[in-house]
Amino acid sequence: MKTMKVTFQVNSDKVTLQVKPYETLLETLRERLALTGAKEACGMGSCGACTVVVDGIPMRSCLVLTPEVNGAVITTVEGLKQDDRLHPLQEAFMEKGAVQCGFCTSGMIMTAKALLDRNKKPTKKEIITTISSNICRCTGYKKIVEAVEAAAKRT
Ligand code: FES
Ligand code: FES
Repeated sequence: MKTMKVTFQVNSDKVTLQVKPYETLLETLRERLALTGAKEACGMGSCGACTVVVDGIPMRSCLVLTPEVNGAVITTVEGLKQDDRLHPLQEAFMEKGAVQCGFCTSGMIMTAKALLDRNKKPTKKEIITTISSNICRCTGYKKIVEAVEAAAKRT
């Protein structure tokens, strides 16, 4: 199988890899770059557990082919911490009890991060609408919404 050369930035690192044309970004992140924060659950774009931010847009990495991110800047949950300090969203998720099993959490946080990056003061309705496409089976969403509201006050 012919492979392709792909270069992109993930968090603070520039990465160049030879990839198969059908390799997904989720596979690349988890299996080749050991960035396992993005989770594989449905593997078909339904749950949001694999969400990462690509050029400012939250994307389901199980649906993105790695050759498509050539030249892109990708942020994963591993890239949120700055100078040994957690991102305000990470702090707020812990403080508000918005994490139970944790399987949805990194995807939820990355979706919320993209929202706060483009809208620093979202309304509760905007938060609910934004995160509603990410599935959480544990929390009932209330604590997650509270955590995003709390983080918005700190960013
Ligand atoms: S694992 Fe990608 S959307 Fe569910
Ligand atoms: S905390 Fe378990 S799925 Fe959300």
